[in-house]
This record gives sequence, structure tokens and C-alpha cells, in this order.
Amino acid sequence: MLLEQHKADIDAIRSRYAERRSAVLPLLYIAQDVYGHLSDAAIREVAEILDLPPTDIFEVAGFYTLFYTREVGKWVIQVCDDVPCCYLGAEELITALKDTLGVKEDETTSDGMFTIQRVKCLAACHRAPVVQANLDYFYDVTADKVDALLHALRERAARGDTLSVSGHRAEDYEIAADGSAQMIERRLGPMPASPAVGAPVDHETSAGS
Ligand code: FES
Repeated sequence: MLLEQHKADIDAIRSRYAERRSAVLPLLYIAQDVYGHLSDAAIREVAEILDLPPTDIFEVAGFYTLFYTREVGKWVIQVCDDVPCCYLGAEELITALKDTLGVKEDETTSDGMFTIQRVKCLAACHRAPVVQANLDYFYDVTADKVDALLHALRERAARGDTLSVSGHRAEDYEIAADGSAQMIERRLGPMPASPAVGAPVDHETSAGS
């Protein structure tokens, strides 16, 4: 089914790489887009398309947290519980999500909307606590923003927005003071320069900045 429905995409991906193995990740994303998660059958289908042993594909799918090998909700809410996020409230956030949704970690709400998972560092520690909802990032999500976060995600699902599970679309958001989710520009590249190690720090100007 994947090959019939997405032949052009799959052919383009296969032609991009000298090694068939290099096409595993992009093909798994296509499969996840089509099926919602990577069932055993979907993984075997990718293996067949690439003419690779199924165990090789199972290993890859099982390694990355952005591949869902079990059925998940429309939104997979992954909360970073690494040290910087925990210092700034990740545990309280996870508790608030579980209490509000009435699910445990790795469970999906009965309406099929949300799955809650813990993950390790999402590489945005400067805006901790960080949540990744499918592939969209939400920054500075403290426990008091849970209602606003869930409301924003429900609204997008109701509008029929394309929910980013494949890497084709990934955006950045923060919860504004009025409780709305505001899309912000993704900042890639170096962080603002910090004083060189050993350089004197101007406490007058750095205080409160
Ligand atoms: S520790 Fe949470 S994003 Fe790095």
C-alpha cells in the first residue's frame, strides 16, 4: 500500500541514497504518516520496499522516541524530564497532565486524543520545561499552562490541521499570557554570546536581564 500510494516520494528517497539502509528513516516517517503508528506490518512493509531484513527496521523503529510502535493518540505529548527541565517544573507538569487527562504515562486518553510520554533532553534547555507535541515544540510549559496547552492542541485537531508526525511540518509555540498558543520563529544557530570564561562580569547590567 505504501508503495502504491507514495511511489513518487519513495522513489525520490531511494534515488537520493547510495545505500538502501540510508532510506530507512524517511520511509518509516512515510509509514507513520499513513498508518498513524508503526505496526509490525508497517515495519515489515518498509523492510520489503528496501529489501532489507525486517529485524534491521524493527531495531531502528524501536530506538527513536519519535517513532510510535504502538497505537497512540492524535497528539503524542512528550515531556522532557531531563535535569534542566526538572529543575524548572517538568515533574509537576507531568503530574498535572496525568491528573487533567486521567491517564498514566504511555497511556492514551479514551477519546484517542492524547498520549503522554516522558523523553530525555529535547535540546531546547534554554526554554525549559519543554514539551514536544508530535513534532511541534512548546516552550516554558509549566504546570499552570496545561489547560491552555491541551485546549490549543484540541482546537488544532478539531480544525483538521495536519498534525506533524513525519517531519514535513514542525513548528514552535509558546503559551501567551492570555492562554493562547502563539507560533514563534524557530531560532537555529548559535546562542547569544556569553562572556568569555574568566572575563569580568558586569553585575550592574547583567542583573535582572
Ligand atoms: S533538559 Fe529539557 S530540553 Fe534539555
